[in-house]
Amino acid sequence: MARSLPKLILFTLFFSLTTFAARSQTSARSLSIEAGPRRSEKLSHLHFYLHEVFAGPNFTATQVASAPTTIQSATSFGAVFVIDDMLKLGPDAGSKLVGRAQGLTSSVSQAESTLLMAVNFVFAEGKFNGSTLSMLGRNSLALEVREMAITGGTGAFRLARGYVRTKTHSIDRTSGLLVSEYDVYVWHY
Ligand SMILES: *[C@@H]1O[C@H](CO)[C@@H](O)[C@H](O)[C@H]1NC(C)=O
Ligand SMILES: *[C@@H]1O[C@H](CO)[C@@H](O)[C@H](O)[C@H]1NC(C)=O
Repeated sequence: MARSLPKLILFTLFFSLTTFAARSQTSARSLSIEAGPRRSEKLSHLHFYLHEVFAGPNFTATQVASAPTTIQSATSFGAVFVIDDMLKLGPDAGSKLVGRAQGLTSSVSQAESTLLMAVNFVFAEGKFNGSTLSMLGRNSLALEVREMAITGGTGAFRLARGYVRTKTHSIDRTSGLLVSEYDVYVWHY
C-alpha cells in the first residue's frame, strides 16, 4: 500500500496533465478558427476642442451631487458633475461640431483641484461616426498639460488603448464657456 500510493499520485498527475493538454489543444484550434486573418493595428491621432457651457440656460455640465462639506472645501472635494460637452474642430463657438464628451467628473482631492474623469467621446462625423472612445483619468487642474488614459472603444475603435493630452484653451466666466484642447493618441484595428 505504501509503495503503490506514489504510483497512484503519479498516474493521477499524468492523467490530469494529459487532459489539460488535450483541452488546451481543442481551445487553441477553435480560437484560431474564430480569430480569422490578423489585421494590423494602427495609431491614430485625433485633435479637437472640448466646449463646456457651465452657466446659463444651455449648460452642458451640471452638478448632480456633493458632500455636506463640499461648499467649505477649497478644492470642492466631493462635487460630482455630469457632462454632455461638445467636441468641435476649433476653439471658436462657430466651428464644426464633431461629437460629444459624455460622462462624469468629480473633485477627488482635498489638497488640490483635481478631477476624476470618466468620459466617453462619441464621434458623429466622418469615418469615426458612431464610434466611441472611453477615457478614464486624473485631471489635475494645476498642471498646464494633463494626461489621461484611453481604456477602450467601440466601432472603429474596438480594442483601443492609448492616452490623451489636454490643456485649457480659454475660460470665459461671463458667457460660462470653458474650452480645452485635446490630443488623443490611440492604437486600434
Ligand atoms: C439656448 O438655446 C436656444 C435654443 O437653441 C437658443 O435659442 C438660445 O439663444 C440659447 N441661449 C443662449 C444664452 O445661448
Ligand atoms: C452619422 O451616423 C448617423 C447614424 O448612422 C447618421 O444619421 C448621420 O447622418 C451620420 N452623420 C454623418 C455626418 O455622416
